[in-house]
Amino acid sequence: MKKSFKILAVVLALVLVGTVFAACGKKAEKEPESKSNTETSLKTVTNGKLTMATESTFPPYEYMEGKDIVGIDVEIAQLIAKKLGLELVVVDTEFKSIIPGVQSGKYDMGMAGMTVDAERLKDADFSSSYAKGVQVVIVKDGGAVNSIDDIKGKKIGVQEATTGDIYASDDFGEDAVIRYENGAVAIEALKSGKVDCVIIDKEPAKSFVAANEGLKILDTSYADEDYAICFKKGNAELKNAVDKALVELINEGEVKKIIDKYIPA
Ligand code: ARG
Repeated sequence: MKKSFKILAVVLALVLVGTVFAACGKKAEKEPESKSNTETSLKTVTNGKLTMATESTFPPYEYMEGKDIVGIDVEIAQLIAKKLGLELVVVDTEFKSIIPGVQSGKYDMGMAGMTVDAERLKDADFSSSYAKGVQVVIVKDGGAVNSIDDIKGKKIGVQEATTGDIYASDDFGEDAVIRYENGAVAIEALKSGKVDCVIIDKEPAKSFVAANEGLKILDTSYADEDYAICFKKGNAELKNAVDKALVELINEGEVKKIIDKYIPA
């Protein structure tokens, strides 16, 4: 009697251990599959590194904190790289060099609060959109521009090659537009009276206005847009892999969490 109990206990224990092992085995097998099967097969990425080009004077999407580039785009890109089993490398460059650099293969992707627009779609492919952008007008308190209607005939500062530049040049003519290397320099030009307003994206505009006395954002916004990640035209392999990871992060609520952290409602 006792002996058969012992045998039963041993058998049960073995079954239990077996089940646990089987479960572990299944889990280990399943994980890479659910991560994304692109992890080991991304041929277009060098040495497991995902190189992202950005322009770091665009808070809260990307800005310098000490020696590091931080912000919404960097955090989202980090999670994408993690999902793909890649190491993220962030490269800071001029905004106008991002698409050419992606086209030439210097960077794997560009992520810089970049708006999807028809012209850019001719030169690059874009991921799904992960955020909304709005072009706004920054003016000096008591300056010459107090509404969008006042802009005509005035000097407009923009960051070169941005949608602010493209729209302002279309609407008010090339001669009215003065292009600066980045938003911060355009703001200096507004402060010193070289331009009468600056057309730029709303979130960086809020930071610039908060950091500089005597500036304000006009109530009427100038244009609505979608931000997305750009890729070399035709690099479907990388675009699809990144897009899949990005859409997962959007569905998991991770993207919203990051955006809400930097842009409190
Ligand atoms: N959304 C605008 C565009 O795509 C401005 C982006 C500027 N981004 C930056 N990181 N400086 O043209």
